[in-house]
Amino acid sequence: MSDLAKFGKGDAVRGGIPICFPQFGPRGPLAQHGFCRRSDDWKITKEEVLPNGDVRTVLTLTDSEETRKSAWPHKFVLDYEVVLGAGTLTTGLIFKNAGEEDVQFTCALHSYFPVGDVDETTVQGLKGVEYEDSTAGGKVCMEEGEAVTFKGEVDRVYGPAPQVLKVVDGKLGRAIRIAKDPTFPDAVVWNPWADKCRALADMPDEAFRRFVCVEVGAVRTPVTVPAGGTWTARQVLTCERA
Ligand code: BG6
Repeated sequence: MSDLAKFGKGDAVRGGIPICFPQFGPRGPLAQHGFCRRSDDWKITKEEVLPNGDVRTVLTLTDSEETRKSAWPHKFVLDYEVVLGAGTLTTGLIFKNAGEEDVQFTCALHSYFPVGDVDETTVQGLKGVEYEDSTAGGKVCMEEGEAVTFKGEVDRVYGPAPQVLKVVDGKLGRAIRIAKDPTFPDAVVWNPWADKCRALADMPDEAFRRFVCVEVGAVRTPVTVPAGGTWTARQVLTCERA
């Protein structure tokens, strides 16, 4: 979480796991990353302890007059499920198309991961995976490195990406393991580096050294959900020694 994160009405919070939905980034007519991350209409609809002791909370957002007036006017129920277990954090989206036509969207769970030092951080699991380089106008490239390193701005949409990725943090001697459902085919890797970080009002100038974003999602190809249909996608986060 950025020390300068804003929590006002309609703010996108700089940290945690913002929900990019129903549009990833600028890939459509809506505001950047869609309206869900800025909405104040989320309601807690479930809080329970599961038989294995894990704690499960569900937050729900449904269509409103405002969303129906937007460029994405569909009827929907979107559940955000958070399960806190012994050493695991699972977060996922459950989308129900409550309308009478097919619905399309792109999306991502925009996880911010704290790291000891970005210079000593890599993202593993993406060798040989195609990516769109958003710092080069979306140019399509192939990841050739054993691991993604951070020596400047990185803003890439990898896909289809493998099920398991790792943020390996040399300074803190740990790895954050990200296991995603196949329904999240893609993974975005983002660090703004010095200049872009300075331009972000809700982030201290040097904050780029202490986080990376690895965002699981459906970005390169939109998801289509038929009338009455449901789509589910989760990520499981765990931490291990590296
Ligand atoms: C990433 C995008 O997902 O989010 C970047 O790939 C973008 O291009 C970043 O800069 C942060 O977006 P925002 O809207 O939260 O500043």
